[in-house]
Amino acid sequence: MKPVKVGLLGLGTVGTGVVRIVEGHQVDLESQVGSPIIIEKVLVQNKSKARSINIDPDKLTEDPWEIIHNPEIDVVVEVMGGIEQTKGYILEALARGKHVVTANKDLMALHGPEILAKAQEQQCDILYEASVAGGIPIIRTLIEGFSSDRITKIMGIVNGTTNYILSKMSQEGAAYADVLKEAQELGYAEADPTSDVEGLDAARKMTILATLGFRANVALEDVDVKGISSVSREDIAYGKRLGYEVKLLGIAERQDEFISVSVQPTMVRNTHPIAGVNGVFNAVYVYGEAVGETMFYGAGAGELPTATSIVADLVAVVKNLKLGVNGKQLTLTYKEKKLKTDEQ
Ligand code: NDP
Ligand code: HSE
Repeated sequence: MKPVKVGLLGLGTVGTGVVRIVEGHQVDLESQVGSPIIIEKVLVQNKSKARSINIDPDKLTEDPWEIIHNPEIDVVVEVMGGIEQTKGYILEALARGKHVVTANKDLMALHGPEILAKAQEQQCDILYEASVAGGIPIIRTLIEGFSSDRITKIMGIVNGTTNYILSKMSQEGAAYADVLKEAQELGYAEADPTSDVEGLDAARKMTILATLGFRANVALEDVDVKGISSVSREDIAYGKRLGYEVKLLGIAERQDEFISVSVQPTMVRNTHPIAGVNGVFNAVYVYGEAVGETMFYGAGAGELPTATSIVADLVAVVKNLKLGVNGKQLTLTYKEKKLKTDEQ
């Protein structure tokens, strides 16, 4: 069968993981989709930069149009980050009939509806499993696994960097700045880690989860956000003495028509399963009226866990290609948004 050709935008932490998994699991991937998956071209900022993987230098380009305007490329995988410029690349790739897989929560939280609409118009897939909770397949689970239920609460730890920081401060009494540096070196943090520590990254992810889980149009600006930069070792030690762990929790709730979404450092009783989620791990608790309580746990950031979600999306795109059903995955029906306010 004809190989499926992928253009990769970005070869940093996540892009490197994608190359490793596509190459390392080639036989298994081909046995699932019936075609070889080939990384044809890779966009980077600097072709001369040293890389942690061996990659044919001829595959690297600094020109995005060599990928987006390349008729040979079937699927664009976007793992470069950024918002406005990247949105332009994704819309242009869709306009050219390419399917898109992205890990970009910043983009999907802000421009998800527009990008999904473009994909639908073009009958292309746009999949973004890696954008929330790294290696946990929570997006697919909310769309498909909970399709028969009515979710009323989604709560959890959805940022690996801040959970890594808070865990090390709690378990080792480590200093905030030192652990943040470690999280950056491990590739967990965003290019600008302010969005991690000030809670914006978690807010973007909660926007996506609430939109999908509640089948409503939740906007980022409606999320109440507070990060962890003002949480001290003393706060954490004090909480511990009282039997609590400090966690950066995202909480999305629906009561009747009203939805509220927030992100804030929260004292979690140490007997609660979320209090035991440490390091880069994430956990998402989902309450459905019929199913009751469920919880999903796994690595929330990092090279290979995040890349597993990207490559799973890639497999889904290629399976859809074989069946001729791209762009026909369940799309969301956005409802008039009504948010709970203090006055109500
Ligand atoms: P990195 O900073 O490690 O890598 C970014 C890559 O994109 C680099 O290869 C860089 O090139 C390239 N790049 C960036 N800007 C441009 C540009 N303007 N033109 C061309 N190439 C560019 O990022 P990550 O891999 O950590 O993250 C990528 C995306 O995945 C982000 O959206 C992030 O939010 C998301 N994500 C990250 C996770 C993680 O654990 N790190 C987890 C889940 C999602 P060069 O190498 O030459 O500098
Ligand atoms: N910076 C993000 C985090 C990457 O730490 O969770 C995964 O989305």
